[in-house]
Amino acid sequence: MSPNEVQSRIAMLRSEVARHDERYYRQARPEISDFDYDGLKRELAELEAHFPEFAADESSTRRVGDDRSEGFVRVKHRLAMTTLDNTYDESELREFHARLGKALDAEDLAYTVEPKIDGVAVSLTYKKGKLTRAVTRGDGEEGDDVTANVKTIRGLPHVLKPAVDLLAMPVPDLIEIRGEVFLRDEEFRRINQLQEETGEALYANPRNLAAGTLKQLDSKLVATRRLEIVLYGLGACEPPPTGFDSQSTFQSQLRSWGLPVVGKFWAVRGIDAVWTAIGELDTLRRGFVYATDGAVVKLDAFAQQAVVGYRGAGQAARKLSPRWACAYKFAPDRAETRINAITLQVGRTGAVTPVAELEPVLLAGTTVKRATLHNADEIARKDVRIGDTVLVAKAGEIIPAVVRVLLEKRPPQCEAYVFPSECPACRTLLMREEGGVKWMCQNPECPEKMRRKIEHFSSKACVDIDGLGEEIVDLLLKHELIKNVSDLFRLKVEVLLPLKKSGEVWATNLVNAIAARRTADLWRVIHGLGIPQVGAASAKDLARRFRSLDALAEASLNDLVQIDGFGEKTAEAVRTWFNQPANLMLVSGLGNAGLNPAPPSDATTGGALAGKTIVLTGTLPTLSREEATAKIEAAGGKVSGSVSRKTHYVLAGEEAGSKLEKAKALGVTVIDEAGLMELLG
Ligand code: IVH
Repeated sequence: MSPNEVQSRIAMLRSEVARHDERYYRQARPEISDFDYDGLKRELAELEAHFPEFAADESSTRRVGDDRSEGFVRVKHRLAMTTLDNTYDESELREFHARLGKALDAEDLAYTVEPKIDGVAVSLTYKKGKLTRAVTRGDGEEGDDVTANVKTIRGLPHVLKPAVDLLAMPVPDLIEIRGEVFLRDEEFRRINQLQEETGEALYANPRNLAAGTLKQLDSKLVATRRLEIVLYGLGACEPPPTGFDSQSTFQSQLRSWGLPVVGKFWAVRGIDAVWTAIGELDTLRRGFVYATDGAVVKLDAFAQQAVVGYRGAGQAARKLSPRWACAYKFAPDRAETRINAITLQVGRTGAVTPVAELEPVLLAGTTVKRATLHNADEIARKDVRIGDTVLVAKAGEIIPAVVRVLLEKRPPQCEAYVFPSECPACRTLLMREEGGVKWMCQNPECPEKMRRKIEHFSSKACVDIDGLGEEIVDLLLKHELIKNVSDLFRLKVEVLLPLKKSGEVWATNLVNAIAARRTADLWRVIHGLGIPQVGAASAKDLARRFRSLDALAEASLNDLVQIDGFGEKTAEAVRTWFNQPANLMLVSGLGNAGLNPAPPSDATTGGALAGKTIVLTGTLPTLSREEATAKIEAAGGKVSGSVSRKTHYVLAGEEAGSKLEKAKALGVTVIDEAGLMELLG
């Protein structure tokens, strides 16, 4: 490369890395995999090392990504929060060991090997054993105060367990403890499903969702998502520690303070043993509750850590990464395959999502036939074409995505993909969503949108009509027996008879099943309407407050924001929905067709728990959360996600977390399952 080419390549890499940093750290919506990001950063670092004349202080190789965002108070870390150097290469790991051997003039070095948790880094401050603060990494020097959100994490003690053993280390006056906030796969799926039900954007993997959740301004919403945490690192400690002098003894100390720590780490000597431990970790990691994208190898003794110190200290006036640690990353599961077609899916809200139809390929144990292409901008950015050979990966090992096109394998007559300007179902001109990337079908009568809406309405989570799944909805639409949900309630056995051979039993059962849901719970109907932002929980709030569809349709914005737990965004979404004539017609059509939903049991007169708010925490001896909720609601009570002064009871089971502590602090009555049964009579 000529100097000019080098310079422009460096400029391009810097701006690309900066763009991806912004998407990863601030927006929690990365476009590329960690593997590709690491590749860009590595190329940049190598060019800067070879051509020092083009190195620059503001380069991203001399900074850590910045996660700070609007709306949070910024707090300085007492000790900088750096990142780690990482490698995908065994020989580089061996070089790391060789460097340390030289610096310490020793061969037989002791290391710990820990899982590298793919979560969001935070630093907790405990003063005299009490959790006082939780701060994100930010730019390494200063992060966002996310204390209220971190305090919603069950299983994170707000007070360190004091030592029972008199010789053990007393709790320090002040200690910063670092760790990673994460979400389990099942919780990630649960929340994404809710996002889908309320028509909101899905998260690609648990890490992004955890990052997005930690940066929510409303800690009540955070409390409804089960964030978890695992701790592994030491920041400032005053007075300096006396009870531990190495990473391995620090891990034991964390555990005896009652803090959540990694389930397994290895304390080994020499680099061969490190490599063996990494191999063991690789076979175990898929069973872990957190995503593990690598191993972190640390020099065990703190005294030796202090000798080798940090990279960047001095010349850049800022610590960059420790010389005493190295992250070995596992290469992601990916596979090569061909795109046979690009199809478009129209969602219930009208959003059009492009999907790559793939030549089936085996990836991380499952056969992948389709992968999301996200949106038109993504297709253009990656220049994905039909006929291309592409790399597919499981983003966060869950949703398959097209990573990149293998240009060298592109067939000669392969034309650029033109995103259609019309809805594939109704041919209406697509419009770009305001301020977003989605193309939307605006036709209120689009048959595909309608099909999705009807499926949603009759689904288990909503009105729950027995026997009315996707296939039957399709059949009814095809024969033009229904146009919208209210037509369901007008169906007669006679019109259904011709649809199936000897269809009499089926037709009678279906008509009866639909009739039986004329008096479905009001919240189910509200949920079934598909109002943006309104999932099951909000639908229950609305049903409790307004008690009929007509009253809800007339609710003012002011009425709506006054509902406990309703933000402005949800209130506005509800009001906007009912402002649309087509939606009002739908509601009156449902009434005319005989739908007469049941309001919740009267909160003022009926029920043993009428007007009472109850918060559940921990595991109950016999009832599941859903069963307990159903019992409370049947008795007129309300289940809420967070404890406040307005809470009447906290129902606590085994392993109750911070909610129990908060209840005690606020003087809220705590009951157990037996206590609940007593209240219910
Ligand atoms: S130790 C001085 N240990 O990965 C930095 N970090 O990519 C010491 N991480 O910044 C960090 N698991 O946010 C350490 N067992 C572990 C880790 C871990 C995940 C994160 C951490 C770090 C990042 C580097």
